[in-house]
Amino acid sequence: MKEYKALINGEFINNGEWLEVLDPFKNEVAGKVTALKAEDIEHAFKSARAAQESWEKTDLVKRIELLHNFRNVLLKNKDEIAAVMTSEISKSLKDSLTEVVRTVELIDFTLEEAKRMEPLSMTGEGMGAKNKIGIFSRVAKGVILAISPFNYPFNLALAKIVPALVMGNTVVFKPATAGSLVGALIGELSIQANFPKGIFNVVTGRGREIGDIITTNKEIDMISFTGSVSIGNNIKEKGSSKDLVLELGGKDPALVLDDLDLHNYAKQIVDGAFGYSGQRCTAIKRVITTNKIADKLVPLLIDNINKLTVGSPYENKDITPVIDQKSADFIKGLVDDAKTKKAKILVGNKFEKNLIWPTLIDNVTLDMKVAWEEPFGPILPIIRIEDINEMIKISNDSNFGLQASVFCKDISLAIQVSKKIKTGTVNINGKSQRGPDCFPFLGIKDSGQGVQGVKESLISMTRYHGIVINY
Ligand code: NAP
Ligand code: G3P
Repeated sequence: MKEYKALINGEFINNGEWLEVLDPFKNEVAGKVTALKAEDIEHAFKSARAAQESWEKTDLVKRIELLHNFRNVLLKNKDEIAAVMTSEISKSLKDSLTEVVRTVELIDFTLEEAKRMEPLSMTGEGMGAKNKIGIFSRVAKGVILAISPFNYPFNLALAKIVPALVMGNTVVFKPATAGSLVGALIGELSIQANFPKGIFNVVTGRGREIGDIITTNKEIDMISFTGSVSIGNNIKEKGSSKDLVLELGGKDPALVLDDLDLHNYAKQIVDGAFGYSGQRCTAIKRVITTNKIADKLVPLLIDNINKLTVGSPYENKDITPVIDQKSADFIKGLVDDAKTKKAKILVGNKFEKNLIWPTLIDNVTLDMKVAWEEPFGPILPIIRIEDINEMIKISNDSNFGLQASVFCKDISLAIQVSKKIKTGTVNINGKSQRGPDCFPFLGIKDSGQGVQGVKESLISMTRYHGIVINY
């Protein structure tokens, strides 16, 4: 069991306070991180500010070279990173490793794209000002606060850190407490990659204790946050930066419009709903279909669910414990509410502490909480509706607007329906997902604001600086 110090101004800091991070499967301490105090956080932001100007002045090719070196160090340590990830968030070893490798690929794309962030140049001729030439370069915003959630502690951290740094910003990074061992390890590996002092700082501690202190720091130029709607809204209200990218929760629907490829639809739906035990913002969180289709789809969903293995993340089981007991209790509450209101539980509904067997709930009606709330666990409601317009309405009546799936062989109908669905993205004949990570990724309504991606993150972490030449 390792103790990880925070990283501030290139130094590892511990002020004597340790915070235990639990292994959700073994229910024992997986490691400890530093519980920082307000003065340490102030030090982190001051260090990021002090380092920013010279970092931005460093040639782009040098910044890319350093980050490429960091990428190599991360890849070299992929097995350790994956093992630490499994120990603190119960993601299977196999999936943890996939997350690390996928992220290295995202870093490669990001560093390539950074080379192509050419300035915009134009004349004023079209507006009657032909003696003016404008050159608008993208420059760093300054100090970026990156806050990540527990479920993708490596991917969602580096998807912020790398575009911020490559464009000349400095970073203060606050990982989720479950996920902070990986976060602190990223800090250690940045030092192995010879990061200059202060450009990258890792601050750890419980969000409910230090969150407001972090997000209201006056040095922040931009906050990039991924997590729940409630914390995202809290940052919107109290955070010091008006410049905010928020990637929040979802209640992604899968609309099944025909029965022409049900074997494939069922596989996609089960993968989408139960991957990492449903703890993905992009998980399929409700199926909406007609009675006729549901009667054929349900047995196929059950077949696929029955193939899922349940248990230890160390043995690469498909369904592993959810992050903590509080989450498990919340999920059980949703199932119990549906049961009381006469939903049919077809499989699952077995709970052993925070390990939950994959659960399929049929005949879900709109008065049930599970029709609207994000469970973040391995349960899937089926809502039976006859009319396509009504299906679209139910999809859109949600406060969330992250992603949706439309399963339909008639591509023109699929496109027509997709255009009416109010989410950031609609996937036709595939599960909802953020990957491949080169795609723009966004949520609307309560699911977020701003866009992440490769180019989109480079843009969001920079601003224009214009020079106008009069001749
Ligand atoms: P969370 O509870 O909102 O926590 C997210 C981050 O915020 C953590 O680092 C947390 O630290 C920190 N935090 C807590 N209180 C804070 C405060 N007052 N001020 C500032 N930061 C604070 O979310 P989670 O449980 O880790 O992740 C699950 C949620 O994230 C789900 O709703 C999921 O849909 C969403 N998510 C969205 C996306 C997307 O891209 N749209 C991707 C992944 C996950 P502590 O852990 O120390 O509390
Ligand atoms: O839940 C977070 C999201 O980043 C997951 O990515 O590709 O599995 O949808 P993906």
